[in-house]
Amino acid sequence: MRILITGGAGYIGSHTLLDLLSADHEALVVDNFSNSSPKALDRVRELTNRNFDVAEGDVRDLSSISARIEAFKPEAVIHFAGLKSVGESTEIPLHYYDHNVNGTLALLRAMDAVGCRNIVFSSSATVYGDPEYLPYDEHHRLAPANPYGRSKLFVEEILKDWAATGGKSAVILRYFNPVGAHVSGRIGEDPWGVPNNLVPFVSQVAVGRREKLHVFGNDYDTRDGTGVRDYIHVCDLASAHVAAVSFAANHNGAEVINVGTGIGASVLEVVKAFETAAGKPVPYGIAPRRAGDIAEYYADASKAKRLLGWSAKYTLADMCSSAWKWQSMNPNGYED
Ligand code: NAD
Ligand code: UFG
Repeated sequence: MRILITGGAGYIGSHTLLDLLSADHEALVVDNFSNSSPKALDRVRELTNRNFDVAEGDVRDLSSISARIEAFKPEAVIHFAGLKSVGESTEIPLHYYDHNVNGTLALLRAMDAVGCRNIVFSSSATVYGDPEYLPYDEHHRLAPANPYGRSKLFVEEILKDWAATGGKSAVILRYFNPVGAHVSGRIGEDPWGVPNNLVPFVSQVAVGRREKLHVFGNDYDTRDGTGVRDYIHVCDLASAHVAAVSFAANHNGAEVINVGTGIGASVLEVVKAFETAAGKPVPYGIAPRRAGDIAEYYADASKAKRLLGWSAKYTLADMCSSAWKWQSMNPNGYED
Protein backbone atom coordinates (compact mmCIF):
# COMPACT_ATOMS: atom_id res chain seq x y z
CA MET A 1 0.00 0.00 0.00
CA ARG A 2 1.14 3.63 -0.53
CA ILE A 3 1.09 5.25 2.90
CA LEU A 4 1.64 8.88 3.84
CA ILE A 5 3.12 9.20 7.32
CA THR A 6 2.86 12.60 8.97
CA GLY A 7 5.33 13.06 11.82
CA GLY A 8 7.24 10.04 10.50
CA ALA A 9 10.59 11.30 11.83
CA GLY A 10 9.32 11.35 15.41
CA TYR A 11 9.63 8.70 18.08
CA ILE A 12 6.61 6.54 17.26
CA GLY A 13 6.55 7.53 13.58
CA SER A 14 10.11 6.34 12.90
CA HIS A 15 9.49 2.93 14.49
CA THR A 16 6.24 2.54 12.56
CA LEU A 17 7.88 3.62 9.31
CA LEU A 18 10.47 0.90 9.80
CA ASP A 19 7.76 -1.74 10.24
CA LEU A 20 5.76 -0.51 7.25
CA LEU A 21 8.81 -0.65 4.98
CA SER A 22 9.67 -4.09 6.30
CA ALA A 23 6.13 -5.18 5.40
CA ASP A 24 6.75 -3.90 1.83
CA HIS A 25 4.56 -0.83 1.99
CA GLU A 26 5.61 2.31 0.12
CA ALA A 27 6.00 5.41 2.28
CA LEU A 28 6.12 9.18 2.07
CA VAL A 29 7.04 11.05 5.25
CA VAL A 30 5.85 14.61 5.88
CA ASP A 31 7.45 16.25 8.90
CA ASN A 32 8.42 19.79 9.87
CA PHE A 33 11.20 18.44 12.16
CA SER A 34 9.99 20.68 14.99
CA ASN A 35 10.55 17.82 17.44
CA SER A 36 12.70 15.34 15.53
CA SER A 37 15.84 14.84 13.51
CA PRO A 38 16.18 13.83 9.84
CA LYS A 39 18.88 11.44 11.10
CA ALA A 40 16.14 9.14 12.40
CA LEU A 41 15.01 8.73 8.79
CA ASP A 42 18.55 8.03 7.56
CA ARG A 43 18.79 5.29 10.16
CA VAL A 44 15.46 3.78 9.11
CA ARG A 45 16.81 3.66 5.52
CA GLU A 46 19.96 1.97 6.75
CA LEU A 47 18.08 -0.57 8.91
CA THR A 48 15.56 -1.53 6.23
CA ASN A 49 17.73 -1.05 3.16
CA ARG A 50 14.68 0.64 1.65
CA ASN A 51 14.26 4.16 0.33
CA PHE A 52 11.31 6.50 0.65
CA ASP A 53 10.60 10.17 0.02
CA VAL A 54 10.57 12.84 2.68
CA ALA A 55 8.81 16.18 2.37
CA GLU A 56 9.78 18.80 4.91
CA GLY A 57 6.59 20.69 5.63
CA ASP A 58 3.83 21.51 8.03
CA VAL A 59 0.55 19.59 8.00
CA ARG A 60 -1.32 22.84 8.63
CA ASP A 61 -0.14 24.21 5.28
CA LEU A 62 -3.02 23.12 3.07
CA SER A 63 -1.46 24.01 -0.28
CA SER A 64 1.78 22.21 0.47
CA ILE A 65 0.14 19.10 1.96
CA SER A 66 -2.34 19.01 -0.95
CA ALA A 67 0.49 19.12 -3.48
CA ARG A 68 2.28 16.26 -1.72
CA ILE A 69 -0.84 14.15 -1.51
CA GLU A 70 -1.76 14.91 -5.12
CA ALA A 71 1.67 13.71 -6.28
CA PHE A 72 1.98 10.63 -4.03
CA LYS A 73 -1.67 9.51 -4.18
CA PRO A 74 -1.62 7.64 -0.86
CA GLU A 75 -4.08 4.84 -0.23
CA ALA A 76 -3.86 5.53 3.50
CA VAL A 77 -2.49 8.12 5.91
CA ILE A 78 -1.04 7.54 9.36
CA HIS A 79 -1.24 10.82 11.23
CA PHE A 80 1.35 11.20 13.99
CA ALA A 81 2.25 14.88 13.49
CA GLY A 82 1.29 17.02 16.43
CA LEU A 83 2.38 18.49 19.72
CA LYS A 84 2.35 16.22 22.76
CA SER A 85 3.48 17.90 25.97
CA VAL A 86 0.69 18.04 28.57
CA GLY A 87 2.37 20.79 30.62
CA GLU A 88 3.17 22.96 27.60
CA SER A 89 -0.41 22.61 26.36
CA THR A 90 -1.67 24.39 29.48
CA GLU A 91 0.68 27.33 28.73
CA ILE A 92 0.09 27.68 24.98
CA PRO A 93 -3.27 25.98 24.37
CA LEU A 94 -4.04 27.76 21.09
CA HIS A 95 -0.78 26.51 19.64
CA TYR A 96 -1.85 22.98 20.55
CA TYR A 97 -5.30 23.34 18.98
CA ASP A 98 -3.69 24.86 15.89
CA HIS A 99 -1.21 22.03 15.30
CA ASN A 100 -3.39 19.17 16.43
CA VAL A 101 -6.86 20.20 15.24
CA ASN A 102 -6.13 22.52 12.29
CA GLY A 103 -3.37 20.17 11.14
CA THR A 104 -5.85 17.31 10.96
CA LEU A 105 -8.46 19.42 9.16
CA ALA A 106 -5.98 20.42 6.46
CA LEU A 107 -4.91 16.81 6.07
CA LEU A 108 -8.49 15.54 5.71
CA ARG A 109 -9.28 18.24 3.13
CA ALA A 110 -6.22 17.28 1.11
CA MET A 111 -7.15 13.59 1.39
CA ASP A 112 -10.72 14.30 0.24
CA ALA A 113 -9.42 16.15 -2.80
CA VAL A 114 -7.73 12.99 -4.11
CA GLY A 115 -10.23 10.47 -2.74
CA CYS A 116 -7.92 9.02 -0.07
CA ARG A 117 -10.34 7.29 2.29
CA ASN A 118 -8.28 5.72 5.06
CA ILE A 119 -6.63 7.26 8.09
CA VAL A 120 -5.03 5.94 11.27
CA PHE A 121 -4.78 8.53 14.02
CA SER A 122 -2.57 8.83 17.14
CA SER A 123 -4.85 9.48 20.05
CA SER A 124 -4.05 8.97 23.70
CA ALA A 125 -5.35 7.31 26.83
CA THR A 126 -5.27 10.80 28.29
CA VAL A 127 -8.74 11.37 26.74
CA TYR A 128 -10.26 9.21 29.52
CA GLY A 129 -9.28 11.45 32.44
CA ASP A 130 -9.88 10.23 35.99
CA PRO A 131 -10.80 6.54 35.90
CA GLU A 132 -14.37 5.64 36.86
CA TYR A 133 -13.29 2.01 36.64
CA LEU A 134 -10.25 0.05 35.46
CA PRO A 135 -9.13 -1.20 33.08
CA TYR A 136 -10.29 1.59 30.79
CA ASP A 137 -12.28 0.15 27.91
CA GLU A 138 -13.21 2.19 24.85
CA HIS A 139 -16.66 2.97 26.34
CA HIS A 140 -15.22 4.66 29.41
CA ARG A 141 -16.40 8.26 29.91
CA LEU A 142 -14.15 10.82 28.17
CA ALA A 143 -12.96 13.69 30.34
CA PRO A 144 -9.48 14.91 29.35
CA ALA A 145 -8.02 17.22 31.97
CA ASN A 146 -5.81 19.47 29.79
CA PRO A 147 -5.73 21.16 26.36
CA TYR A 148 -3.51 18.45 24.88
CA GLY A 149 -6.02 15.76 25.81
CA ARG A 150 -8.93 17.90 24.61
CA SER A 151 -7.21 18.48 21.26
CA LYS A 152 -7.04 14.67 20.85
CA LEU A 153 -10.69 14.29 21.79
CA PHE A 154 -11.77 17.03 19.33
CA VAL A 155 -9.85 15.30 16.54
CA GLU A 156 -11.46 11.97 17.42
CA GLU A 157 -14.90 13.58 17.02
CA ILE A 158 -13.92 15.24 13.72
CA LEU A 159 -12.69 11.90 12.40
CA LYS A 160 -15.95 10.17 13.36
CA ASP A 161 -17.93 12.79 11.42
CA TRP A 162 -15.56 12.55 8.45
CA ALA A 163 -15.71 8.74 8.39
CA ALA A 164 -19.52 8.84 8.50
CA THR A 165 -19.64 10.56 5.10
CA GLY A 166 -19.45 7.26 3.31
CA GLY A 167 -16.83 4.78 2.17
CA LYS A 168 -14.25 6.16 4.58
CA SER A 169 -12.35 4.61 7.43
CA ALA A 170 -10.76 6.18 10.50
CA VAL A 171 -8.93 4.02 13.01
CA ILE A 172 -8.34 5.99 16.20
CA LEU A 173 -5.63 4.40 18.31
CA ARG A 174 -5.55 5.42 21.96
CA TYR A 175 -1.97 4.81 23.02
CA PHE A 176 -1.12 4.10 26.63
CA ASN A 177 2.54 4.82 27.60
CA PRO A 178 4.93 4.11 24.72
CA VAL A 179 8.51 3.37 25.83
CA GLY A 180 11.58 1.48 24.63
CA ALA A 181 13.37 1.48 21.31
CA HIS A 182 14.15 -0.64 18.28
CA VAL A 183 16.22 -3.72 19.12
CA SER A 184 19.14 -2.39 17.03
CA GLY A 185 19.58 0.60 19.36
CA ARG A 186 19.78 2.82 16.23
CA ILE A 187 16.44 4.61 16.65
CA GLY A 188 14.71 5.62 19.85
CA GLU A 189 13.17 8.42 21.86
CA ASP A 190 15.19 11.63 21.84
CA PRO A 191 13.44 14.30 23.89
CA TRP A 192 14.80 17.83 23.73
CA GLY A 193 15.64 19.45 27.07
CA VAL A 194 14.64 17.88 30.36
CA PRO A 195 12.50 14.80 29.70
CA ASN A 196 8.94 14.99 31.04
CA ASN A 197 8.37 11.27 30.84
CA LEU A 198 9.58 8.58 33.19
CA VAL A 199 11.59 6.21 30.99
CA PRO A 200 13.58 8.88 29.11
CA PHE A 201 14.41 10.49 32.46
CA VAL A 202 15.48 7.18 34.00
CA SER A 203 17.59 6.47 30.88
CA GLN A 204 19.38 9.79 31.20
CA VAL A 205 20.09 9.16 34.90
CA ALA A 206 21.49 5.72 34.07
CA VAL A 207 23.75 7.14 31.34
CA GLY A 208 25.02 9.86 33.68
CA ARG A 209 23.35 12.89 32.07
CA ARG A 210 21.21 13.53 35.19
CA GLU A 211 21.96 13.00 38.85
CA LYS A 212 18.81 11.27 40.06
CA LEU A 213 15.19 10.55 39.29
CA HIS A 214 12.49 12.44 41.17
CA VAL A 215 9.67 10.03 41.91
CA PHE A 216 6.54 12.16 41.83
CA GLY A 217 4.71 10.94 44.92
CA ASN A 218 4.84 7.71 46.92
CA ASP A 219 1.55 8.17 48.77
CA TYR A 220 -0.90 7.14 46.03
CA ASP A 221 -3.40 4.39 46.66
CA THR A 222 -1.37 1.88 44.61
CA ARG A 223 0.58 -1.25 45.56
CA ASP A 224 3.78 0.64 46.46
CA GLY A 225 2.40 4.19 46.62
CA THR A 226 3.87 5.30 43.26
CA GLY A 227 1.95 5.94 40.01
CA VAL A 228 0.96 2.96 37.88
CA ARG A 229 0.85 3.06 34.07
CA ASP A 230 0.41 0.65 31.16
CA TYR A 231 3.81 0.88 29.46
CA ILE A 232 3.87 -0.44 25.91
CA HIS A 233 6.95 -1.21 23.81
CA VAL A 234 7.18 1.20 20.87
CA CYS A 235 7.76 -1.77 18.53
CA ASP A 236 4.48 -3.33 19.67
CA LEU A 237 2.85 0.03 19.02
CA ALA A 238 4.42 0.13 15.56
CA SER A 239 3.02 -3.29 14.67
CA ALA A 240 -0.43 -2.16 15.85
CA HIS A 241 -0.26 0.54 13.13
CA VAL A 242 0.60 -1.97 10.44
CA ALA A 243 -2.44 -4.00 11.51
CA ALA A 244 -4.63 -0.87 11.72
CA VAL A 245 -3.77 0.30 8.23
CA SER A 246 -4.82 -3.07 6.77
CA PHE A 247 -7.99 -3.01 8.85
CA ALA A 248 -8.83 0.50 7.59
CA ALA A 249 -8.47 -0.61 3.99
CA ASN A 250 -11.17 -3.25 4.51
CA HIS A 251 -13.69 -1.43 6.71
CA ASN A 252 -15.84 1.67 6.67
CA GLY A 253 -16.58 4.07 9.51
CA ALA A 254 -14.64 4.99 12.62
CA GLU A 255 -13.23 2.63 15.24
CA VAL A 256 -11.60 3.65 18.50
CA ILE A 257 -9.07 1.13 19.79
CA ASN A 258 -6.94 1.07 22.94
CA VAL A 259 -3.31 0.13 22.39
CA GLY A 260 -1.77 -1.08 25.62
CA THR A 261 -0.64 -4.29 27.25
CA GLY A 262 -3.38 -4.41 29.88
CA ILE A 263 -0.72 -4.60 32.59
CA GLY A 264 0.21 -1.76 34.93
CA ALA A 265 3.70 -1.12 36.33
CA SER A 266 4.55 1.30 39.14
CA VAL A 267 7.32 3.89 38.98
CA LEU A 268 9.43 1.83 41.38
CA GLU A 269 8.85 -1.33 39.33
CA VAL A 270 10.06 0.51 36.23
CA VAL A 271 13.15 1.72 38.10
CA LYS A 272 13.91 -1.83 39.25
CA ALA A 273 13.44 -3.29 35.75
CA PHE A 274 15.68 -0.58 34.31
CA GLU A 275 18.40 -1.25 36.91
CA THR A 276 18.38 -4.90 35.93
CA ALA A 277 18.53 -4.05 32.22
CA ALA A 278 21.35 -1.53 32.63
CA GLY A 279 23.22 -3.51 35.29
CA LYS A 280 23.62 -0.42 37.46
CA PRO A 281 21.67 1.42 40.13
CA VAL A 282 19.36 4.30 39.18
CA PRO A 283 19.52 6.80 42.06
CA TYR A 284 16.15 8.32 42.95
CA GLY A 285 14.47 10.44 45.59
CA ILE A 286 10.84 10.93 46.51
CA ALA A 287 9.41 14.29 45.38
CA PRO A 288 5.93 15.81 45.73
CA ARG A 289 3.13 14.59 43.46
CA ARG A 290 3.08 16.16 39.98
CA ALA A 291 -0.02 18.30 39.38
CA GLY A 292 -2.60 16.58 37.18
CA ASP A 293 -1.20 13.04 37.60
CA ILE A 294 -3.60 10.13 37.98
CA ALA A 295 -2.70 7.40 40.50
CA GLU A 296 -3.21 4.40 38.28
CA TYR A 297 -4.50 3.37 34.87
CA TYR A 298 -4.15 0.62 32.31
CA ALA A 299 -5.92 -0.61 29.23
CA ASP A 300 -8.51 -3.16 28.40
CA ALA A 301 -6.73 -4.20 25.19
CA SER A 302 -9.25 -6.85 24.11
CA LYS A 303 -10.75 -4.80 21.25
CA ALA A 304 -7.36 -4.54 19.54
CA LYS A 305 -7.08 -8.32 19.69
CA ARG A 306 -10.61 -8.80 18.40
CA LEU A 307 -10.55 -6.27 15.55
CA LEU A 308 -6.90 -6.09 14.56
CA GLY A 309 -5.69 -9.52 15.66
CA TRP A 310 -2.99 -7.58 17.51
CA SER A 311 -1.69 -7.96 21.04
CA ALA A 312 1.49 -6.79 22.73
CA LYS A 313 4.33 -9.29 22.92
CA TYR A 314 7.11 -7.42 24.67
CA THR A 315 7.62 -7.31 28.45
CA LEU A 316 8.70 -4.48 30.73
CA ALA A 317 12.18 -6.07 30.77
CA ASP A 318 12.28 -5.84 26.93
CA MET A 319 11.16 -2.21 27.08
CA CYS A 320 13.90 -1.31 29.55
CA SER A 321 16.68 -3.26 27.83
CA SER A 322 15.91 -1.69 24.45
CA ALA A 323 15.62 1.81 25.99
CA TRP A 324 18.99 1.25 27.66
CA LYS A 325 20.59 -0.02 24.45
CA TRP A 326 19.43 3.09 22.57
CA GLN A 327 20.49 5.46 25.37
CA SER A 328 23.90 3.86 25.92
CA MET A 329 24.68 3.70 22.19
CA ASN A 330 23.45 7.29 21.68
CA PRO A 331 24.07 9.14 24.95
CA ASN A 332 23.12 12.44 23.31
CA GLY A 333 20.35 11.07 21.13
CA TYR A 334 20.68 11.90 17.43
CA GLU A 335 23.03 14.81 18.18
CA ASP A 336 26.23 12.81 17.87
P1 NAD B 1 7.19 13.14 18.40
O1 NAD B 1 7.20 14.56 18.82
O2 NAD B 1 8.45 12.36 18.54
O3 NAD B 1 6.70 13.03 16.88
C1 NAD B 1 5.81 13.95 16.30
C2 NAD B 1 6.42 14.35 14.96
O4 NAD B 1 5.53 15.28 14.32
C3 NAD B 1 7.77 15.03 15.10
O5 NAD B 1 8.65 14.48 14.15
C4 NAD B 1 7.48 16.51 14.79
O6 NAD B 1 8.60 17.14 14.20
C5 NAD B 1 6.30 16.39 13.84
N1 NAD B 1 5.37 17.53 13.83
C6 NAD B 1 4.83 18.19 14.90
N2 NAD B 1 3.98 19.13 14.47
C7 NAD B 1 3.99 19.07 13.10
C8 NAD B 1 3.30 19.79 12.09
N3 NAD B 1 2.43 20.77 12.38
N4 NAD B 1 3.53 19.46 10.79
C9 NAD B 1 4.42 18.47 10.46
N5 NAD B 1 5.10 17.77 11.40
C10 NAD B 1 4.88 18.06 12.70
O7 NAD B 1 6.01 12.42 19.20
P2 NAD B 1 5.64 10.89 19.33
O8 NAD B 1 5.90 10.48 20.73
O9 NAD B 1 6.24 10.12 18.21
O10 NAD B 1 4.07 10.99 19.16
C11 NAD B 1 3.42 10.81 17.91
C12 NAD B 1 1.93 11.06 18.09
O11 NAD B 1 1.44 10.16 19.09
C13 NAD B 1 1.57 12.46 18.55
O12 NAD B 1 0.39 12.86 17.88
C14 NAD B 1 1.31 12.28 20.03
O13 NAD B 1 0.39 13.24 20.53
C15 NAD B 1 0.72 10.88 20.08
N6 NAD B 1 0.90 10.22 21.39
C16 NAD B 1 2.15 10.10 21.92
C17 NAD B 1 2.30 9.51 23.18
C18 NAD B 1 3.67 9.40 23.81
O14 NAD B 1 3.73 9.20 25.03
N7 NAD B 1 4.77 9.48 23.06
C19 NAD B 1 1.20 9.02 23.89
C20 NAD B 1 -0.06 9.13 23.29
C21 NAD B 1 -0.20 9.74 22.03
N1 UFG C 1 7.13 10.14 36.85
C1 UFG C 1 8.04 10.33 37.87
N2 UFG C 1 9.15 11.08 37.63
C2 UFG C 1 9.41 11.62 36.40
C3 UFG C 1 8.48 11.42 35.34
C4 UFG C 1 7.35 10.68 35.61
O1 UFG C 1 7.83 9.85 38.99
O2 UFG C 1 10.45 12.31 36.24
C5 UFG C 1 5.93 9.30 37.09
C6 UFG C 1 4.62 10.04 36.90
O3 UFG C 1 4.25 10.72 38.09
C7 UFG C 1 3.68 8.90 36.52
C8 UFG C 1 4.59 7.93 35.74
O4 UFG C 1 5.92 8.26 36.13
O5 UFG C 1 3.22 8.24 37.66
C9 UFG C 1 4.48 8.08 34.23
O6 UFG C 1 4.67 9.43 33.86
P1 UFG C 1 4.96 9.88 32.36
O7 UFG C 1 5.20 11.36 32.38
O8 UFG C 1 6.00 9.03 31.76
O9 UFG C 1 3.61 9.51 31.60
P2 UFG C 1 2.11 10.02 31.83
O10 UFG C 1 1.29 8.81 32.13
O11 UFG C 1 2.05 11.13 32.78
O12 UFG C 1 1.71 10.61 30.39
C10 UFG C 1 2.09 10.01 29.15
C11 UFG C 1 2.29 11.08 28.11
C12 UFG C 1 1.00 11.75 27.75
C13 UFG C 1 0.02 10.73 27.31
C14 UFG C 1 -0.14 9.65 28.34
C15 UFG C 1 -0.98 8.57 27.72
O13 UFG C 1 3.20 12.06 28.60
O14 UFG C 1 1.21 12.63 26.69
O15 UFG C 1 1.11 9.11 28.73
O16 UFG C 1 -1.36 7.66 28.65
F1 UFG C 1 -1.17 11.31 27.08
